[in-house]
Amino acid sequence: MIETEEMEFAPRVISPESTVDDGDIEVTLRPQTLSEYIGQEKVKENLAIYIEAAKRRNEPLDHVLLYGPPGLGKTTLSAIIAHEMGVNLRITTGPAIEKPGDLVSLLTSLSERDVLFIDEIHRLSRAVEEILYPALEDRVIDIIIGKGPSARSIRMDLKPFTLIGATTRAGQLSAPLRDRFGVIQRLELYSQEQLTDIIRRSSMILSIPCTADGAAEIAGRARGTPRIANRLLKRVRDFADVMGNGEITQDIAKIALNRLEIDALGLDNIDRRLLMMIIKGYGGGPVGLETLAAALGEEAVTLEDVCEPFLMQLGFLARTPRGRCATRLAYEHLGIKTADSCDDGQLSL
Ligand code: ADE
Repeated sequence: MIETEEMEFAPRVISPESTVDDGDIEVTLRPQTLSEYIGQEKVKENLAIYIEAAKRRNEPLDHVLLYGPPGLGKTTLSAIIAHEMGVNLRITTGPAIEKPGDLVSLLTSLSERDVLFIDEIHRLSRAVEEILYPALEDRVIDIIIGKGPSARSIRMDLKPFTLIGATTRAGQLSAPLRDRFGVIQRLELYSQEQLTDIIRRSSMILSIPCTADGAAEIAGRARGTPRIANRLLKRVRDFADVMGNGEITQDIAKIALNRLEIDALGLDNIDRRLLMMIIKGYGGGPVGLETLAAALGEEAVTLEDVCEPFLMQLGFLARTPRGRCATRLAYEHLGIKTADSCDDGQLSL
């Protein structure tokens, strides 16, 4: 059983954040077992051992923290963990748990060994976090009844459960919270081959005819992110239906993705504007993140969580102590003559 309490909206076609439109397709395509799940090999191998060990001991799995860029499958993995453990999954997000009472009612409603998944766990308030510490460590909660001098605290036992926390920003987690996770796993961006496999699997499930080249073309522009790959698959299918015979070929994929202004490497307008701003506006850098965000009219967190991991993976952006720099590869990709104005040694990439 999966219960979702909040779903986010994001307008960019290649935004890795979940959108309302992704809801159905994500659930249909979500692999149910570790063996169906493509990629993240190290994480899968480790989780398989922890799950097997917990099952043999008849215990809940230790608390798990999954971190990494959005859209890589943190929710999917927690659904798989719950499925493999044979227990229920409750899904919520840090900002949805507004008051300590919200968390108390969530925790007390869990059955033995259930999995509670909290997305964006770095956004829990301090007061809510305080409830979580004893719940994670000793499976108890302390409830304060009354106010002032007559206030008293009642301790309540909880059923054994597993918390899976997910975050794009592990660095923002408080140390006491981080220390209470027995298993901490980082999810990596996917390779083009892995994304091709994911697209082929999705097109099979959705009965979308798709050639190997067509899948590879979409995979190459999905910026290492399955959620984007699956979303692009749906968009390209529209072009294949209207402009072709319904089959996604490499040519159709190229036409569709060019129309969506996603370039051959998966950069969209925001990525290109970001690099252009560093190059044209700040001589190639270094320039601070906040300055860039203000100049582009974008949120600093969007640039940091969404654009930068991908641009750094491509080797287009360097983060230095003095700010962000565009690399020579970025100049080449954008067809701009390399400037020598950024004197950071790292630019000779
Ligand atoms: N769909 C989305 N992510 C997936 C993954 N990692 N493996 C298989 N199918 C997926």
